[in-house]
This record gives sequence, C-alpha cells and structure tokens, in this order.
Amino acid sequence: MKPTVAPFPAARLRRTRVSQPIRDLVRENALTTADLIWPIFVREGEGQMEPVESMPGVLRRSVDKVAEAAVEAQALGIPAICLFPYTDASLKTEDCAEAWNPDNLTNRAIRAIKQAAPDIAVMTDVALDPYNINGHDGYVVNGEIVNDASVEALVKMTLAQAEAGADIIGPSDMMDGRIGAMRRALEQAGHPNVTILSYSAKYASGFYGPFRDAVGASGALKGDKKTYQMDPANSDEALRLIKRDLMEGADMVMVKPGIAYLDICQRVKSTFGVPTFAYQVSGEYAMIQAAAQNGWINGEQVMMESLMAFKRAGCNGVLTYFAPEAARLLNG
Ligand code: PBG
Repeated sequence: MKPTVAPFPAARLRRTRVSQPIRDLVRENALTTADLIWPIFVREGEGQMEPVESMPGVLRRSVDKVAEAAVEAQALGIPAICLFPYTDASLKTEDCAEAWNPDNLTNRAIRAIKQAAPDIAVMTDVALDPYNINGHDGYVVNGEIVNDASVEALVKMTLAQAEAGADIIGPSDMMDGRIGAMRRALEQAGHPNVTILSYSAKYASGFYGPFRDAVGASGALKGDKKTYQMDPANSDEALRLIKRDLMEGADMVMVKPGIAYLDICQRVKSTFGVPTFAYQVSGEYAMIQAAAQNGWINGEQVMMESLMAFKRAGCNGVLTYFAPEAARLLNG
C-alpha cells in the first residue's frame, strides 16, 4: 500500500495528533496483556526468591514460588509462562540425562503450575545447555557440536515435558531436523495438541549475556554458539529456517533477539502470515533497566514503547521479562 496525502493545507497531518481522543482513534496497533509471555527462572529449594544481579527486578524462584507467580500472571491476564531452570552444577553432565528426568526442576515446575493456575499455558525451553557440562545446546564430540545425536536427546526432553503437562514446547537449540523429530514423537506418544513454538531464527547474539548468568551457564560455556545460531548479518537465511520449521510441524515461530531484529519479524510475518513471536532477551531488558536506574531514560515509557514496537513489526506477541510490570500498567 502506497501512502496517499493531499497537498498542504488540505492535509495537515498534525490534525490527527491534536488531542488524546483523536490520537486514540487513529492508533494503528495495540498492545494488550494477551501479547505477553513471561520467562521465569526456576531454582531448587522452597520459599526462595533470589535476585539475578545482571537483570534488576528478575528473580530465580523455587518451584512453590513459581506456582505463586503463575497465579499472579493468570490474574494479570498473561496467557503464558516460559520456564528456564537454574540447574545445580552437580547435575551437569556430558550426556545431559537430567534434561529428560521426569522430576527435573522444569518438569516439577510444570506440574506445580498446572495445579495452581490451570488456565495459564506453560511453555518450556528445549536445549541441552542447562544440563551440559560444557554449556552448549547440543552434544559436543571432539570439540564439535554434533547434530543428530543432539536431536535424539532433545526429543526425549520434549516428551518428558509433554508428559509433565507442557502446553508449548520451545526448542531453542537450533539443531537441524529437531522440529520434525519432536512433532513425530509427540504424535506417536499421544500428545497431538501440544504446540511447538520454534526458536526458528535465533541469532548468535551478545544480548544473551545476562541470561547465561541467570541460568548459571556463563562459566560452563566453552567457545561460542556460531556453528548453530545465526550470523547477525543474515536475513534471507532466517526465512529459510522459518519455512523449514513450518514444513516440519512448528505451529508458531520466533525471532530472537527482539529489538535489533525487528526487520526479521516484519519479513517473517509478511512472508508467511503465521503466528510470529519475538524474544526481548535478557540483554535488552538489562540495558533498559540499567539506563532507567541511572535516571537516563524513563523506564516505564521505554518498556512500553519497546513492546509496542514488536506489535508494529507484526508480531503476535513477545517473550519479555517485563511481562508482569507491563501487564500491571496495561490493566491500570
Ligand atoms: C539457551 C537459551 C538462551 C536464551 C534462551 N534459551 C541463551 C543462549 O542461547 O545462549 C536467551 C534468553 C535471553 O537472553 O533472555 N538455549
């Protein structure tokens, strides 16, 4: 669509900005609490709420506190929570067996949320990094991140999560062929309605730094993730990955990180017209919070502006650590 405009003064484009009600009438996009997915960090213990230093305002919660947070989220109108485990170093191994332990932190948290807040959807993270002794999302053999054996492990992890009651499986590993393998396994195991929200276009990004602190993977990670996560220089490749994942059975797709990749969000939505999400990742959150805490920006305003940007780019929703704060503002 080409924008049309009459010559001045027939058109004075400031007319539709003259007052709040007129601005409200012509607003093109809306952000609601239904657009938010809240990522939460889970830790061992009971009654625990431990601050994550590099993410002001974000906590690692024990399972009972995660259930309380889910109740709160449900009351705020947030449709989904996404779980990330802070796994004790003693449980990190080369074979990552803790990843598909039916009683690992994530699976216990899923069951606790389902008990406490049955009307909220639970999303998971599927990748080996929280359980891997070397911090990678896939198995490392002779210094190489191997694909097919990793996919087999990721499928076991997926099934354990579905068994525990997960509604949305979130593969963030970027291995090839994992979506198809997960979809087949879910069908065979009697979970035809479990959705997959694929981290299809996930970039090898510096914006994940604070997250790796939050899940205790920073110290563990050897090397970088460039043989599986995308080169920030690429855009066409993102469309190929999205298409591939859709063909393999993904129901929804994600672009990650968020604000620096809005062009990718827009291309994905306009090309495929599928449910599209962005992840406003830890580094984006940390930058806004740090500047706000220094009084250099208005934190609330920048939070809402950044979230609206995802809607403008065509996203159906956004994973954001701001979810409860934004929801409280939206609910007045
Ligand atoms: C790991 C994973 C990462 C994030 C989500 N899942 C980090 C990584 O790939 O190293 C990042 C989320 C964030 O930064 O907020 N599978």
